[in-house]
Amino acid sequence: IVLLLGAFALAYLLGSIPFGLIVTRIGGAGDIRQVGSGNIGATNVLRTGRRGLAAVTLLLDALKGAVAVILVALLMPLLIPLAPCVAAVGAVCGHCFPVWLRFRGGKGVATGLGVALALDWRVGLSCCLLWLLVARFSRISSAGALAAFAAMPVLFGLLDGVGPAAVAGLAVALIVFIRHRDNISRLRAGTEPRVGRKAA
Ligand code: G3P
Repeated sequence: IVLLLGAFALAYLLGSIPFGLIVTRIGGAGDIRQVGSGNIGATNVLRTGRRGLAAVTLLLDALKGAVAVILVALLMPLLIPLAPCVAAVGAVCGHCFPVWLRFRGGKGVATGLGVALALDWRVGLSCCLLWLLVARFSRISSAGALAAFAAMPVLFGLLDGVGPAAVAGLAVALIVFIRHRDNISRLRAGTEPRVGRKAA
């Protein structure tokens, strides 16, 4: 149990690196928390009009999730498959509730996709495709994210059985849905902004 707590803590620390904030600061785009939805994720970075910075944010946020899971799997091979699953939840918690930003972090989409890719690339890839497809056709990033994360625990269950990965997928999906509370209200009201629309 101590090792599992260690896995969670390590992943949390990695996940809590706020790349959206760092990338936009370094890129001279100001404080991303003052733009659009105020979120530190790639969708909101895109609202600054800086596509490159948004792509880098997406990549780094996904990478930190994948690295957390792979690192824990390498460090604690005896605990497989439990430790990487704990790390997956830890990394998403770190991204969404970082101690450095007074627990006000991102919404967990890129990091959640990164951990899914590292746990089972088939699940991760399917969720990425679903996210892109729904976001592409609805032109709403959060709609794509909600569809992808609703499917995630189901896909883990189907491909890996009802085990630690499916439970981790469910926990990650719950966190993502909780962090999208405002988006869900806006989607229901029909006021959720379209992808890439520049913030005023
Ligand atoms: O990546 C988060 C996305 O699903 C919603 O972001 O900025 O539109 O609230 P945002």
